[in-house]
Amino acid sequence: MPINEKVGMGGPVDLALLPMNSVIGENGDLSIAGVNVLELVEKYGTPLFIYDEDEIRVKLQEAISAFGPNVAYASKAFLCRAMAELVVEEGSRIDVSTGGEMAVAMAGGIDPSKIVFHGNNKSTRELTEAISIGVGTIVVDSFDEIERIKRLASMLLDSSSKLKRVKVLLRVTPGVEAHTHEFVRTGQEDTKFGFSLASGAALKACEIIKESEEMTLSGIHFHIGSQIFLNDGFLAAIEAIGPLVNSVGVKELVIGGGLGVAYVNGEDQLSMKRWADEVKKAVKASGIAGDVEVTAEPGRSIVAHACITVYQVGTIKKLPGIRNYIAVDGGMSDNPRPVLYGSGYEAFLPREANAQRPMKARLVGKHCETGDVLVFEAHLPDDVEVGDFVATPVTGAYGYSMASNYNKVPRPAVVFVSLGQDRLVIRRETTEDLLRLDQ
Ligand SMILES: Cc1ncc(COP(=O)(O)O)c(C=O)c1O
Repeated sequence: MPINEKVGMGGPVDLALLPMNSVIGENGDLSIAGVNVLELVEKYGTPLFIYDEDEIRVKLQEAISAFGPNVAYASKAFLCRAMAELVVEEGSRIDVSTGGEMAVAMAGGIDPSKIVFHGNNKSTRELTEAISIGVGTIVVDSFDEIERIKRLASMLLDSSSKLKRVKVLLRVTPGVEAHTHEFVRTGQEDTKFGFSLASGAALKACEIIKESEEMTLSGIHFHIGSQIFLNDGFLAAIEAIGPLVNSVGVKELVIGGGLGVAYVNGEDQLSMKRWADEVKKAVKASGIAGDVEVTAEPGRSIVAHACITVYQVGTIKKLPGIRNYIAVDGGMSDNPRPVLYGSGYEAFLPREANAQRPMKARLVGKHCETGDVLVFEAHLPDDVEVGDFVATPVTGAYGYSMASNYNKVPRPAVVFVSLGQDRLVIRRETTEDLLRLDQ
């Protein structure tokens, strides 16, 4: 559906895009979880990421009830110590894909047995760390890695270790092209991830692992991509992988992440439950044994919708016959998704969150690139002016986690709000932080 069809071009931002505990006051200003957004901005400055903490908790519970307690939150979507603590409190597993994510998850108090360790090129150092602390599962991605794990496990594991063998999942490429941007598509044959099903590499890897004394093959994993709205790619992948799951006799099938979320007015998304129900139906239909546990690794669908980013307008340029440019104090350094994938967002003013937005403008950042765009086709109220605060909703995934210091712009602060209280979970970077690594 085209952008804005649901509420009409120039209509207010669709309230369904705002965090779950959003309320618009009588004067039009926005509060999240009982905390006024303009007061937060006054307190912490801009750009500011504001997360509705209780929405994240609800989404983690939805994932657990849809896929069971072994569902893993994909921490690449957003991670800091406070986020890891939420995962611990809600009881899911956590998916990490680098030693850095593993360290932050551990700092949040996660039990290592609840860590699922991913990555197409895990270093010897990262694997040593993972095996030494006893991570629950390593998702094996290449033949080189199998050999590396065997060698490390034979050195690190002895009768006194917590682990006796390294439990692994095998990442398989099912040869399916998901309907999503090519940069976040990962299930096709031409990919750096996993073992090809079609070439027989996946079966060969399973055999090597099953024969090894250092590893236990607990299951098969695939991940076909991210921001996927149609279940057909998942269903095709399950059909393709079913015979392998049965022939190697594993008891776990992990379908990765990928559940799409609505970013703009008029977009629809599948619920976590519907995703799980359809996938489980397909698992049954494909003849996979009934005792195989089906689980997933959602990232975006847990955190994206829970967050808005608030910026301050610094410059407005109206180029007659061309377009209006509204420049804010952040940009591609706090949200690179529009530049990377051409992603769409809405924009609105938290001081009048339900206002009509007849003015068309390009919402841009402060970086030295023409491509530094936050919203290509933003709609805003006519009275937007320099000094105003502008917010973009659904920025909780792959925003802060992909943030950079390009142009030496300090990364924003992140706050969690819940039950009328706010807490700073990541402080704003300072000039000293920008010089921290210089010798
Ligand atoms: C292996 C794996 N699992 C899970 C995810 C999470 O995907 P999403 O955030 O789309 O749910 C990703 C993201 O790229 C991934 O690579």
